Amino acid sequence: MYYRYVTASSASHPSLAATLATLKLQAQSGSLPFLALPSHESDLPLIERQADRIRDHFAHLVVLGTGGSSLGGLTLAGLRQSRFLPGGTNVHFIDNSDPDTLAQLFDQLPLSDCCFLAISKSGNTAEVLAQFLLILQRLQRDGLPVARQCLALTMPGDNPLRRLANHFNIPIMEHDPQLGGRFSVLSNVGLLPAAVSGLSLYALREGAKSVMDEVWENGPESAPAQGAALSNQLLNEGKTISVLMPYCDRLENLGRWYQQLWAESIGKQGKGSTPVRALGAVDQHSQLQLYLDGPRDKFITLLQLEQQETGETIASDLARNIGMDYLGEQKMGDIIAAQQEATATSMSRHGVPLRKLILPTLNEQSLGAVLQHFMVETAIMAGLLGVNAFDQPAVEESKQLARESLASSRKVTV
Ligand code: PA5
Repeated sequence: MYYRYVTASSASHPSLAATLATLKLQAQSGSLPFLALPSHESDLPLIERQADRIRDHFAHLVVLGTGGSSLGGLTLAGLRQSRFLPGGTNVHFIDNSDPDTLAQLFDQLPLSDCCFLAISKSGNTAEVLAQFLLILQRLQRDGLPVARQCLALTMPGDNPLRRLANHFNIPIMEHDPQLGGRFSVLSNVGLLPAAVSGLSLYALREGAKSVMDEVWENGPESAPAQGAALSNQLLNEGKTISVLMPYCDRLENLGRWYQQLWAESIGKQGKGSTPVRALGAVDQHSQLQLYLDGPRDKFITLLQLEQQETGETIASDLARNIGMDYLGEQKMGDIIAAQQEATATSMSRHGVPLRKLILPTLNEQSLGAVLQHFMVETAIMAGLLGVNAFDQPAVEESKQLARESLASSRKVTV
């Protein structure tokens, strides 16, 4: 295993075994490809070739997409991207319809050195189409080679994104129609940006596969099944907020990805719990007071990285001189390690339910494993709650209202 799952006690649920049996059937029938993807490699060479082409020709990859079409790639790319220095091809994610962001893109990126990847499973998401239309207009205006600089990723069949790509002869990659956006991180949707960022796709899948092997082997005792049973038990005890708190900057976006996965998959029919993201140790100075001493409605997941004895060492004489003796001879990794343990102890003392996912190292294997853990846990949790993890019927209304409002201002039909 690439991570250790640690809880105070094991959890159970009368429907756990049946839920797992249903998932196994769905994995075997191919109706839930995210369960089977980790065992596959045949699709990876094509993704790598596309990534090589992008890296060979462009300094920037701009991913246009929203929700599940962007958050997985964003999380994966976070593993490699430097906070301070551009390195290799820089990967950017434009996931909103905020005019300011697009204006910044046009002002600040060398457009001729950008590859634009538009991802939309349905091919009709307004945010993505609006971004892509404006970018295509701008590329055309500047006389840039649209077909060479753009890629589309959408599901088979007629849809507006495919029509747009065909119109401009833009190459199209296929989105598996059976794969829901928020479960697509380990498909070409997340893996193309990951490969451009320099990650090993094989290692990501290998990590994810280790989780599936554990799930099929240990069933209700496996970590994702235990996680779902515990989440359900705590929800029944009034813990309606689920906090994911990684102690690692490179995992900051994991919280965004997890929030969407958990919220959109299980928040149905009056059921569900509210996902909240936090970052250790930063949010010890922001959220921890509330978690320890506020309403007793939270279940905390600490995602810890074993970082002891890593990083630079603080000189003891300087630390002593300023009255911070305890920092002397400590490495940066020792400090965050002490902080994450202290938080866990403090939570236990305050009776705040928590669990830990402990990563010996953060690499493609362990990140692939963590992502697969949460996807499987979410699917099991939905099974225990009796909701469909794979639809999002309630959000359709606001999409339709926005379409109607835009159409009425133009006096056209939707
Ligand atoms: O998880 C989901 O299914 C959604 O969040 C979608 O990813 C999101 O709405 C974007 O949809 P699409 O990829 O069709 O543009």
